[in-house]
Amino acid sequence: MAKKEKAKLIVGGRELELDVIVGSEGERAIDISRLRSETGYITLDEGFMNTGSCTSDITFINGEEGVLRYRGYSIEDLCEHSTFTEVSYLLLHNRLPNLEQRENFSRLLNEHSLLHEDMRHFYNNFPHDAHPMNILGTMVNAMSSFYPNVDLLSMRDNIDMTAARLLSKIRTIACYAYKKTMGHPIVYPQKDFKYCENFLRMMFWSPVNNYELDADRVRALSVLLVLHADHEQNCSTSTVRLVGSAHANLYASISAGISALWGPLHGGANQAVIDMLEKIHRQGGDIKKFIAKAKDKKSSFRLSGFGHRVYKNYDPRAKIIKKMCSRVLEDEAEHQPLLDIALRLEEAVLQDEYFISRKLYPNVDFYSGLVYMALGFPTNMFTVLFAIGRMPGWIAHWKEMIQNPKAKIGRPRQIYTGSRQRDYVPIQQRS
Ligand code: CMC
Repeated sequence: MAKKEKAKLIVGGRELELDVIVGSEGERAIDISRLRSETGYITLDEGFMNTGSCTSDITFINGEEGVLRYRGYSIEDLCEHSTFTEVSYLLLHNRLPNLEQRENFSRLLNEHSLLHEDMRHFYNNFPHDAHPMNILGTMVNAMSSFYPNVDLLSMRDNIDMTAARLLSKIRTIACYAYKKTMGHPIVYPQKDFKYCENFLRMMFWSPVNNYELDADRVRALSVLLVLHADHEQNCSTSTVRLVGSAHANLYASISAGISALWGPLHGGANQAVIDMLEKIHRQGGDIKKFIAKAKDKKSSFRLSGFGHRVYKNYDPRAKIIKKMCSRVLEDEAEHQPLLDIALRLEEAVLQDEYFISRKLYPNVDFYSGLVYMALGFPTNMFTVLFAIGRMPGWIAHWKEMIQNPKAKIGRPRQIYTGSRQRDYVPIQQRS
């Protein structure tokens, strides 16, 4: 048997031998779980740049080579051959469903697509211009009052139903939020439609617009949701795991993940990209000015849709979306100027020393907004679409964490740098 790799650490005058954990794709981690108890030291790693929070069987990323696989299947294969419903099942169960399993899962999704009628009243109390991400997080959290939380002991039986509830209802919640902002009547889900068909119909059908489903558009939406379905320990997924590690209920954990995703450095970037492209367009299409601003260290401006913590190469999701973008936008003269600006921006960035040296490439958010726009979604729904896509990943990670017998409540440590002990000063004596 090959000798297990070890790491040696000399600290505080003593030497510690640490195990090296090797992942199935050869990734290596130094196991420091004995560090504090044996040396009194902790590690410090702002932004978790070098810190693994768990081992996981769900998603593999090789950021240097631009590889992304769910449960071993490449994202390229899944986008070509699979659907969002099937990929959701795959993430949750670690196997592609057979025909019967896929039909059962689709049936569950349809059965659980309605929202409790009392939840509809909540929409009336949001301001008319409330951001749909805010509505989404609030409504998902409220689901814990309306639907039983998954029972941790019998989770194996219940997970499909709970997952179906979340996957299906989040789409209904999102569409109601959109209709509310438009002041239009809501459209109920119908059992004869598949997941993405129902979604587009609930968004765009109205008594005065008999929205016709188009197979290419349905397919484009499914591919985008597949591409967002998981991304290992990103900010929102880590949030779901951290909140869930306190045994907070699944709905509350996912709602916290939705809040994290809303940030412009995370899922909020897809909306920020379109805002940026529109601004460039309004100002005459001068991309140089925006690139210069992004490079200026005195400015906090960044080019939205570029750079990634893990990918130091072209984001494989962006590659797929870019191809789709040209196809979907072919007949959309209205959006063509923004696509042209995006293509020129990418070309200039990929030749610019600032971006080359920092390995900043287009990420998933750079082109996705353009496709969402072509499908008819308003910009404030883009991050909501990201959240709907990410739902199976969040649930799969929560499930993996809860079922891990070694899982502990997530509780990082810190190095305190504040005042040392001080005596209390009565208010009369304070300056
Ligand atoms: N424009 C200009 N400069 C950038 C950009 C950008 N978009 N991204 C990174 N940099 C620079 C940054 O200023 C820093 O430069 P220096 O070394 O001189 O200080 C260097 O590149 C490294 O950046 P960082 O902030 O230390 O890298 P990070 O891994 O902490 O941040 C990121 C990753 C995605 C937050 C960042 O690249 C960014 O802010 N991008 C724009 C927002 C965006 O598109 N977010 C979507 C991410 S993909 C979808 C998702 O997973 O949510």
